[in-house]
Amino acid sequence: MSDWLEPHVIASAPGRVNLIGEHIDFSQGFVLPFAIADRTTAKLRKRSDDHIRIRSVQRPDAVVSTSLSELKPLGSGDWERYVLGVIWSLKIDEGVDIEIDGRVPLGAGLSSSAALECAVAVGLNQLFDLNLNKKELALLTQKAENDYVGVPCGIMDQSVSLMAESGSALLLDCRDLTTTLIPFDLAASDLELLVIDTQVHHALVDGGYAERRGNCESAAQKMGVVSMRDLSSQHLHESKDLLTDHEFLRARHAVTEIARVATAVELLKAKDFVELGRIITASHNSLRDDYEVSCPELNCAVDTALAHGALGARMVGGGFGGSAIALVARDHIAAMQSAIARAFDSAGFTTPRFFTSLPSDGARVELDHSAI
Ligand code: GLA
Repeated sequence: MSDWLEPHVIASAPGRVNLIGEHIDFSQGFVLPFAIADRTTAKLRKRSDDHIRIRSVQRPDAVVSTSLSELKPLGSGDWERYVLGVIWSLKIDEGVDIEIDGRVPLGAGLSSSAALECAVAVGLNQLFDLNLNKKELALLTQKAENDYVGVPCGIMDQSVSLMAESGSALLLDCRDLTTTLIPFDLAASDLELLVIDTQVHHALVDGGYAERRGNCESAAQKMGVVSMRDLSSQHLHESKDLLTDHEFLRARHAVTEIARVATAVELLKAKDFVELGRIITASHNSLRDDYEVSCPELNCAVDTALAHGALGARMVGGGFGGSAIALVARDHIAAMQSAIARAFDSAGFTTPRFFTSLPSDGARVELDHSAI
């Protein structure tokens, strides 16, 4: 904040990887994500007028300047809409300067937008003494993304960015946002989770996400259940004639994925990583064949990882690009990265990026001078 004054509050929030439980957060399902070590930091300072200034360390020349009265949902703009949306959804009524340092890789399906929203929300909560708890912050950041930015996302990304703890995956019940920490210590078993960023950029606003969400909602309505959470496999198969082909396939993914999460939790507790790998791969197959949100690059990453000894692999996040994960013996990581890079090269795909990350802490206040 060189030409800006010193911040009153600094807050940070991480991106996430979802171990399993994909495209079921909006169906009131269970998901099992964890926070990654990459974080976004927000430095905040109160102003004495009703202006809002936002800038980012990554784009120092572009300062966004507006005022509280100009906040308008679904307006035009760029990444700053995620920040403005949170100011709007938290009903902030005093001016503020915010500087962002975004270190979660963009467009990689690692939830850089949730990290941004949650860092800002936790910072504003502290700066203005709002006393909102993490569950309330999760709902308000989701509201910012849904109603201000216009992206119809579920509740998973914001919840894990806020509620995660290091060393554990977070079992989140998306119906009431209750959480259980499931110890997730791969290193002790000489394993790592390799994240393969296909560099194919996806945007949830593009329509495929909303369309599938709509399929699940209309299928639930036709079968007389509130959501996929209340649907059994038997009920689904008995109702097949009521549904369109798409509705049936999307619903079959949701029902089987919710069951896979429950199984994965038990396998993680039992440290049965071989079987866990199998379940992770089954999730990919369901996302590829029933939910139809994979793409050639994600399938190439998964197939190559499995062909080179991964215990399991799958696409993560919204799909149509972004990242895949592979559960891999630590000694095999380097060879696996080369094999995947080679496979991408021969297929003519953009060179992928690789990350590994241990389960890390959720959002936190890093500095608090708000009382000064
Ligand atoms: C995106 C959304 C989440 C979730 C995943 C798919 O990341 O933001 O709410 O629906 O896709 O599991």
